[in-house]
Amino acid sequence: MPKMTSRYKIAKSFGSASASYDISARLQRYSGKHLMPWLPNRNDLTVLDLGSGTGFFTDLLASSYQQVMGLDISKDMLIFAQENRNQAICWLEADAYKIPLQDNSIDFIYSNLMIQWCDPLDLVLNEVMRVLKPGGLFIFSTLVNGTLFELKSAWAQVDDDQHVIDFKAEREVRALLNGPDRKLLEAKQQDIILEYENVLHLAHELKSLGANHVPKKQGKGLAGKDKWQKMTKSYQDFLEPNNIYPATYKVFSGLVVKLS
Ligand SMILES: C[S@@+](CC[C@H](N)C(=O)[O-])C[C@H]1O[C@@H](n2cnc3c(N)ncnc32)[C@H](O)[C@@H]1O
Repeated sequence: MPKMTSRYKIAKSFGSASASYDISARLQRYSGKHLMPWLPNRNDLTVLDLGSGTGFFTDLLASSYQQVMGLDISKDMLIFAQENRNQAICWLEADAYKIPLQDNSIDFIYSNLMIQWCDPLDLVLNEVMRVLKPGGLFIFSTLVNGTLFELKSAWAQVDDDQHVIDFKAEREVRALLNGPDRKLLEAKQQDIILEYENVLHLAHELKSLGANHVPKKQGKGLAGKDKWQKMTKSYQDFLEPNNIYPATYKVFSGLVVKLS
């Protein structure tokens, strides 16, 4: 299991962004909508949104399915969701490593851009399989290696510290999604390149999403001014002709069935 302190910090970071998250979540909206074609078209189903955040997609699910639950590790995200979303949704403050639901109780689990925060990932996937009914579906998106490579490379010119979280290789994630009790039925990988006015704009967006906690970072707090300037200068290697700063997100999404 990952250390509690690291998960507590992830929860705190997302919690502090609960009010700003929705206006910055352009990548999350895009990836979440791309999961929609995989949703089952029966509506008498019990559904869990794993890592539900502000509940934007939980709300959409609640307009189609009979019983919908949103689970998140961040209390503040859940408070925001409870105040702003469909009142019929049941919210669970819990850790994806220990889902407080019975074995074989859920028809499908939807999870948009959450599992990249889970390391080790295999334990979370085992929990997902435990709560799904046989034949149940896990519909997910995550970020894989190569995500934010521009930022990673710009920082690598400055110091040896870790400034971007580790993303697993796509083949590693695929391997975890196939096994005696599970089968990856469909998958796709898309490179989404978002545009920024400058590196500060990117940093602000990550902060307003709560996605700025880096568990393995050694140095505490913000980098010094000199380091920051050096990094932003290195980032200019990636500048596009119109002076736009690109940032690449490698979104891997898929549909997994729990085998009977
Ligand atoms: C990038 S946000 C995605 C939120 C939402 N799914 C969406 O599409 O907007 C990731 C969410 O996962 C939650 N999260 C991270 N680690 C978690 C864990 N171990 N258990 C449950 N939730 C977790 C965070 O608190 C955050 O709300």
